[in-house]
Amino acid sequence: MNKTPYYITTPIYYPSAKLHIGHAYCTVATDVLARYKRLQGYEVMFLTGTDEHGQKIEKKAQEAGMTPQEFVDSIVEAPGGVKDLWKLMNISNTRFIRTTDDYHVKSIQKIFRKMYDNGDIYKGTYEGKYCTDCEAFWTETQLKDGKCPDCGRDVHDAQEEAYFFRLSKYADKIRELLTTTDFLEPKSRVNEMVKNFIDPGLEDLCVSRTSFTWGVPVDFDPKHVTYVWLDALFNYVTALGYQNDKYDDFDAFWPGVNIVGKEIVRFHAIIWPAFCMSVGIPIPQKVFGHGWLLLDGGKMSKSKGNVVDPYLLSEKFGVDALRFFLMRSFPFGSDGNFSNELLINTINVDLANDLGNLVSRTTAMAEKYFGGTLPAEQAADPALDGELTAMAAELQGKYADAMERFAPHKALDEVFAVIQRANKYIDETAPWTLAKDMDANAGRLARVLYNLLEATRICGILLTPFMPETMEKLFAQIGADAGAQSWDAAGQWGVLPAAVTVHRGDALFPRVDADAAIAELEEAAKAAKAGNGPVIETEPLTEEAVDFDTFCKSDFRAVKVLSCERVKKSEKLLKFTLDDGTGTPRQILSGIAKWYAPEDLMGKTLVAIVNLPPRKMMGQESQGMLISAVHTVDGEETLNLLMVDDKIPAGAKMC
Ligand code: ME8
Repeated sequence: MNKTPYYITTPIYYPSAKLHIGHAYCTVATDVLARYKRLQGYEVMFLTGTDEHGQKIEKKAQEAGMTPQEFVDSIVEAPGGVKDLWKLMNISNTRFIRTTDDYHVKSIQKIFRKMYDNGDIYKGTYEGKYCTDCEAFWTETQLKDGKCPDCGRDVHDAQEEAYFFRLSKYADKIRELLTTTDFLEPKSRVNEMVKNFIDPGLEDLCVSRTSFTWGVPVDFDPKHVTYVWLDALFNYVTALGYQNDKYDDFDAFWPGVNIVGKEIVRFHAIIWPAFCMSVGIPIPQKVFGHGWLLLDGGKMSKSKGNVVDPYLLSEKFGVDALRFFLMRSFPFGSDGNFSNELLINTINVDLANDLGNLVSRTTAMAEKYFGGTLPAEQAADPALDGELTAMAAELQGKYADAMERFAPHKALDEVFAVIQRANKYIDETAPWTLAKDMDANAGRLARVLYNLLEATRICGILLTPFMPETMEKLFAQIGADAGAQSWDAAGQWGVLPAAVTVHRGDALFPRVDADAAIAELEEAAKAAKAGNGPVIETEPLTEEAVDFDTFCKSDFRAVKVLSCERVKKSEKLLKFTLDDGTGTPRQILSGIAKWYAPEDLMGKTLVAIVNLPPRKMMGQESQGMLISAVHTVDGEETLNLLMVDDKIPAGAKMC
């Protein structure tokens, strides 16, 4: 069969800090899809890379005391950098693009000029809100509670002479693309794009900056640098040779499939196709927006510092186990919660127990009962064998359906259903009982083991994209040669010779001691945090508005500490006697004993809300509440009482 070459990409990541498990998740998924297509016999181009320009990188470099180029080199090329990480994780990318690569820079300049010449880029003045972290301009209406709608951070007013791209001109075409085709998946993301971005009206997009210099200069107006998203999005085609002579693969491989995280779907499903239409190249074949890996319910992010290190996990559990876990545990289109417990459990249950035991039990029995080589004379028992052989025979089709729908987790469900069925088959056929009378049962026993080896072989082929290294070991153990490992061979039952020879080897996936491993991981995470400085988190701002009159009803006063003591039998409470300016001492109990010793607070001027209804705590009345600032440092709650200048008299109202 003549197969069209297949092209698949990851986003190009910002080298603003070391990459984390979220980036590894997307890259592993894309690698699995690329390997799956190769297994099917497609010629595959798989691109990943780094997005190296922009104000954020410029700022980071400055903080690190380096030039931007030195800074990005230190993250991308240096030992332990991005390229090393992908090598370690056995990522089979064909190409790696850096947007600072000379050929890419020159291509972007040509592309910008082409869009200017065709009238899609024009010069104007930009006035708007800019989010430095996302490198994105927003209109007032797009802001969420006055903040960047993507990352929730502050935006600032920006005004500058700038070039604009006529995005508005493409609004109807983009709407049609999103609503009448399968261009963007999963489907759930389409509605969000249309409702949030197309319906309110697409505005022209600012595509140049003059406020910083770390970017691709507009060659005919060099005080402008190209907007980082224009520079970045075109990577998918410059890496094939579009507008340069470095490569000659554009015609063969474009359009391709862009795999991206959900937060950058907007750029890929609206702006990117409009850019393609403008320069007259086909739009991508597909944009797939995968979900996020969350940590404690929130997004991991480089800037928050709450990230999980893929190096550490690969080292500890093995690259294949980590790759498998990422694909097995999180439905690709949805968000999922990462935890060390889930990782270890997945390794122990799916890999050590189900798959590992299947292989080790089968090869051990083949050695024990037949010295490693099965006799060719075998006896089938359709009643007992039928279900396993039928499931294995149907597996390839179901697996391919799932993979074609970008659902690697579903493909793994199908494979593991067969593995579990095979383990059940061992119990049903009880080979150890058959072995008690070898004269009568040798043929039947041989067929049972053969069936197990065949089921394992088929599963092994389909698991190869997920765990390429370990499947090689599996094939060696079950005696499957190269011909028995192909995609076609996964669709056939009976490929192993009847007189197959197995080679028992080490356990493919050793069981993990969960308690010990979790303790070690926590220790390592602490050490890593210590190296990076503490991670400080504050509570998100309240979204619900409070009207001014309600606010004014809260009576905050300066209060002076007349006395303070611990409350007996309570570990938390301190009892304060306070001067609130009325002449009658006020008693307030506060759960802050963990942070303050009573003697340290004597005479201090604090802030209290004094019109809360009185409440009893440990049998004593509390007439109000002291105000403090709370945040967490490395996950630990930290509290500071609000202390004000001692010049402020007791009873002064705060408003
Ligand atoms: O956005 N869970 O780069 P970036 C799952 N340079 N995936 C995650 C993740 C998480 N917690 N965190 C990151 C950029 N990712 C631009 C892209 S493309 C022309 C330019 C993955 O370094 C996910 O795929 O912020 C996400 O879209 C990508 O990393 C963002 O990487």
